[in-house]
Amino acid sequence: MGPKTLVTGAAGFIGFHLARRLTEDGRSVVGVDNLNSYYDPALKRDRLDLLTATPGGFTFERLDLRDSAGVAAMFREHRPEEVVHLAAQPGIRESVINPRESVENNVNGFLSVLEGCRESGVRHLVYASSSSVYGANTKVPFRVGDPVDHPISLYAATKRANELMAHTYSHLFGLPATGVRFFTVYGPWGRPDMAYFRFADAICKGEPVQIYGTGEALRDLTYIDDIVESLVRLLARPPQADGDRPDPGPETGAGGAPYRLFNIGFGGQISVGGLVGLLEQNLGRKAIRTHQQERPGDVFATRAEVLDLENYIGFGPQIPVDEGIARFAEWYRERYKP
Ligand code: UGA
Repeated sequence: MGPKTLVTGAAGFIGFHLARRLTEDGRSVVGVDNLNSYYDPALKRDRLDLLTATPGGFTFERLDLRDSAGVAAMFREHRPEEVVHLAAQPGIRESVINPRESVENNVNGFLSVLEGCRESGVRHLVYASSSSVYGANTKVPFRVGDPVDHPISLYAATKRANELMAHTYSHLFGLPATGVRFFTVYGPWGRPDMAYFRFADAICKGEPVQIYGTGEALRDLTYIDDIVESLVRLLARPPQADGDRPDPGPETGAGGAPYRLFNIGFGGQISVGGLVGLLEQNLGRKAIRTHQQERPGDVFATRAEVLDLENYIGFGPQIPVDEGIARFAEWYRERYKP
C-alpha cells in the first residue's frame, strides 16, 4: 500500500473521483464526509457505494468538520500521511443566501483540518481553493500571482481565507501545503446545483432553463478527469521549504515556507448560452430559454493560466468542453433515463 491518504468531502463530486482513483492505485484511503443534504443525498450515497465497492483500502468515516474534537480524534485514529481537503459548503450564490454556513464549514472546518495536519505531522496537505478568489479582476487569463484582494462573494472570501490560513501553518509549523484554485469543474457524478447539471435537468424535464443575465457570461469549464490527474501528480510533489521554486512570487511561500498555489483550469472559455446549446445537442432536446437577473456574487468571466502547473507536474487539463459535456450527457442519460 502507498501512503495513507485522507480525503475530506469523499462523497462529494471531486472527492469521490479522487478517492476512487487513489483506491484503485492501491493506496489506503480514509474518506470523510458529513453527507449533508445541500443537494440530493442519494447522489452522495451512490457515490459512496461505488467507493466502498472499489477493491482496495477505502474506509469511510461520517464526520462533520465543524466538530473539532471529532476531527482531532479522527486524525489520531487514522494518522494520515497525506491529506486532500475538498469538503466545503460549495456554491457562490448559496453563500450570499447562507453566509454563516459558508464561514462555519469552510473556515472553521479548515482550521480543524490544519490542526489535525499539524498534530499528525502530515507530509503534504492539498486543499481546494477556487477561481472565484479572482473576484472583481477583469484581466484574463487569471494568473496565480494576480492580486486577489477583491472577492465579490463570501464563498470566495472563505476560499481566499483558506489560502492565507494554509500559508500561516506552512510558515509556523513547516506544513507542506498546496492550494489549488479549481475552475468550474464538471463531469459525470457532478454537482446538481451547478449550471450544466441544472440545465440538463431542465432540458430533460421540458422545463425552462434559467439563464442569469444575458447568457454571455464566460466560464473556463474543467473536466473532472483532468482535475483528478492534476491532484494525483501534485500530491506526489510536496513543496519544499526552500529551492524548488523556479519563479518566486506571491504564489510561493514567503521566507521559505513550503507553500504553493496553482490554478487548475482547462484554459478555455464557453458562454453560458453556449453551454445550453452544447447540452441541447448532446441530450437531443431543445431548451426553453428564460432569462433572469444576474445573481449577486457571480463574476462575469473566468479563464485560467496554467503554465505554472504544466511546468511543475508535466501535465495540464486536456479535455475540451464539447468532449467533456458529451461524456457528462452520456452519464446523465444512463443514470436518469430521461
Ligand atoms: C463553480 C462552483 O459552483 C463553485 O463551487 C466553484 O468554486 C467555482 O465554480 C470555481 O470556479 O471555483 P460557477 O463558476 O459560478 O461556480 O459555476 P456554476 O454554478 O455552474 O455557474 C456558471 C454560470 O452559470 C454563472 O454565470 C451563473 O450565473 C450561471 N447560471 C448558473 C445560470 O445562468 N443559471 C443557473 O441556473 C445556474
